[in-house]
Amino acid sequence: MSIKQIMVIGAGQMGAGIAQVFAQSGLRVKLNDMNEEALNKGLTGIERRLDRAVDKEKMTGQEKERAWKNLEGTVDLRSASNCDLVIEAVVENMEVKTKVFQSLDAITPEHAILASNTSSLPITEIAAATKRPSQVIGMHFMNPVPVMKLVEVIRALQTNDETYETIKELTEKLNKTSVEVHDFPGFVSNRILMPMINEAIYTVYEGVASVEDVDSVMKLGMNHPMGPLTLADFIGLDTCLYIMEVLHDGFGDSKYRPCPLLRQYVKAGWLGKKSGRGFYSYE
Ligand code: NAI
Repeated sequence: MSIKQIMVIGAGQMGAGIAQVFAQSGLRVKLNDMNEEALNKGLTGIERRLDRAVDKEKMTGQEKERAWKNLEGTVDLRSASNCDLVIEAVVENMEVKTKVFQSLDAITPEHAILASNTSSLPITEIAAATKRPSQVIGMHFMNPVPVMKLVEVIRALQTNDETYETIKELTEKLNKTSVEVHDFPGFVSNRILMPMINEAIYTVYEGVASVEDVDSVMKLGMNHPMGPLTLADFIGLDTCLYIMEVLHDGFGDSKYRPCPLLRQYVKAGWLGKKSGRGFYSYE
């Protein structure tokens, strides 16, 4: 199936990044959010990143203009009525996501594919909320979207082969690499990453080593570009806890129990970089 017009729902850090990479790849994309303020924040961020790319000579002024012309902002979800693909990147909440999918199911043409950028929620359940479950799929981009090469393509139990192949081909057009993943808690990325982060937190909690030393071991000893506790601060400790809970509930296995120290930090409002304090201080 050929994808000509795309819409991204949610103009936050992920949605704006996703819309940007489509526009840069020559595809027409509409970016949607609930209100003008959130939408403008997303669009301004895209413009700033494109300008920076021109300044750094990674892109010509003409290429920037071309990308910008491919992009259209809208607060009206009904403008999804001529879209071949819609990618949802709203808050990580099943109730909100299923509502968005049900609205899109009613608005979009019959052939349209509906994708979610969820980092942990079951695609199978999102698909079941629509009347076109075989055309629902997970398209999990990594943060920051314009930089990271991977897209986890998650097949719900109901996803058909045509939908999967279309999304796989589209990912290649974005100059990114896709991996095929089945719909299990945490998919592949977070199933492996989050228990590592959680274990790093346990190491600090049990007094085995300091925050800085745990990060040094993984950076200098394992060649990770960033220590797990620094990474946890960047992702957001609330998000890390949420994903650990998804793994714990989904598998019912105590090996995924979230570290009590992680729970305590989240209760304190120490959510990492975004709140000014997590395992490190950002004030
Ligand atoms: P964010 O909080 O930056 O952005 C969410 C945006 O969605 C906000 O602008 C909000 O106004 C908008 N929104 C909420 N409800 C809406 C609705 N009904 N209609 C239209 N817009 C609506 O969140 P972020 O970080 O961009 O995450 C979005 C999704 O991407 C989540 O599902 C998250 O799990 C996933 N994700 C996040 C990653 C990250 O590193 N932050 C990485 C990969 C996936």
